[in-house]
Amino acid sequence: MTRPDVVAVCGSRREGSYTRRALRIALDAASEAGARTELLDLRTVDLPPFDPDAEEGDAVREFKRRVREADAVVLGSPVYHGSYSATLKDALDYCGKDEFADTTVGLLATAGGGSYASTFDHLRVVVRSVHGWTVPTQVGIRGAYDKFDGPEITEPGLEDRVREVAANAHVAPSAPPEIAAGCDD
Ligand SMILES: Cc1cc2nc3c(=O)[nH]c(=O)nc-3n(C[C@H](O)[C@H](O)[C@H](O)COP(=O)(O)O)c2cc1C
Repeated sequence: MTRPDVVAVCGSRREGSYTRRALRIALDAASEAGARTELLDLRTVDLPPFDPDAEEGDAVREFKRRVREADAVVLGSPVYHGSYSATLKDALDYCGKDEFADTTVGLLATAGGGSYASTFDHLRVVVRSVHGWTVPTQVGIRGAYDKFDGPEITEPGLEDRVREVAANAHVAPSAPPEIAAGCDD
């Protein structure tokens, strides 16, 4: 069996980002389970603000190639004003069905407060519109400032759930392509 290719996209540019720390834990677990993994960190993968008229540079082409080639993508975002970050939206606007069709998608969000449901709802709608397959499992971290000690998560049950998010994201899409292609946009 070939190694699954799992990519995580970090939608926080913050230096000490909890989202990034959690995605690293998820990818490490997937790697231990045999997956090929890569973190696409939007702090360092410096995509210009999306402009449909602009010519795509190397960073954009490489970002799209990695998403297109992945079997599974984990989208990680801080909760910003009840939704997800503009940084992640910008990156997703570069992508379409070419990048996400036949790709399963896991979701992870970190919140300063206690609520991340709308962040996941909004991401699910966006992923569906590019024909990606969001899986039912998702991980939200509420009160994130209180859940980490350096790179580690201090709450044992939570760490287990984070470790599983990348593995759970890698399941085979099951609808025949002709049905998926016929879905309304
Ligand atoms: C612009 C902005 C908006 C935010 N909005 C919310 C919010 O609506 N709900 C919430 O629980 N936390 C909110 N927060 C807190 C972040 O979700 C929280 O600090 C998160 O863990 C940051 O993720 P990061 O460490 O990966 O950057 C907001 C933070 C910022 C900077």
